[in-house]
Amino acid sequence: MLTIRKAELSDVPTLFEMINYYAEQRIMLPWSLVDLYEKVWEFTVAEDDGKVLACAALKFYSAELAEVRSLCVTPGITNRGLGRALTERLLDEAERYGLKTVFALTLVPQFFDKLGFREIPRERFPTKVWRDCLACPKYFQCDEKAMVLDLDARRASRNEAALEFAGTATKA
Ligand SMILES: CC(C)(COP(=O)(O)OP(=O)(O)OC[C@H]1O[C@@H](n2cnc3c(N)ncnc32)[C@H](O)[C@@H]1OP(=O)(O)O)[C@@H](O)C(=O)NCCC(=O)NCCS
Repeated sequence: MLTIRKAELSDVPTLFEMINYYAEQRIMLPWSLVDLYEKVWEFTVAEDDGKVLACAALKFYSAELAEVRSLCVTPGITNRGLGRALTERLLDEAERYGLKTVFALTLVPQFFDKLGFREIPRERFPTKVWRDCLACPKYFQCDEKAMVLDLDARRASRNEAALEFAGTATKA
């Protein structure tokens, strides 16, 4: 059965392998084991029958802003909804923390577009957001897009959908 849960220390070796598989292809930024142990609490994982199949992390920048980062699904099982399920869980987490905006820097803007993110100019983010970029081998030839999601709008559209559903249920 598929479970989405916060990562635990015992997941670190799997996260290390999954993320660095894509980092070697220059699709994602690499993580060291030391950093993963330090920041494992940022991560959420998708697990099926005891096997971690996908991961993603929510990194806070301020009381209002966070980033979805290090999102990846085990090769061979992409396009089955795991990326969406994990990202939605991180957005729920961001809402619980009272954040206003979540962003992602990505080579797959089409995926984030499907989840309600919109592209914005990278320059709109505060400088500290770019600290990780300094460690990126593609710093001088960055091909990532900045995608952003407004959590108030997400809440509003959920409430609207709930009201519509209640209206339909009452009529039925
Ligand atoms: C990108 C990634 C996380 C998406 O996860 P996934 O589980 O394959 O995606 P999902 O099945 O949840 O797809 C959700 C929607 O996005 C779309 N989508 C997924 N990957 C896409 C892509 N590469 N290009 C365009 N659309 C994509 C799906 O078609 C689906 O659309 P639908 O709701 O209309 O059916 C996954 O493919 C992956 O791990 N890729 C390699 C690592 C990577 O690029 N990570 C992103 C770093 S920011």
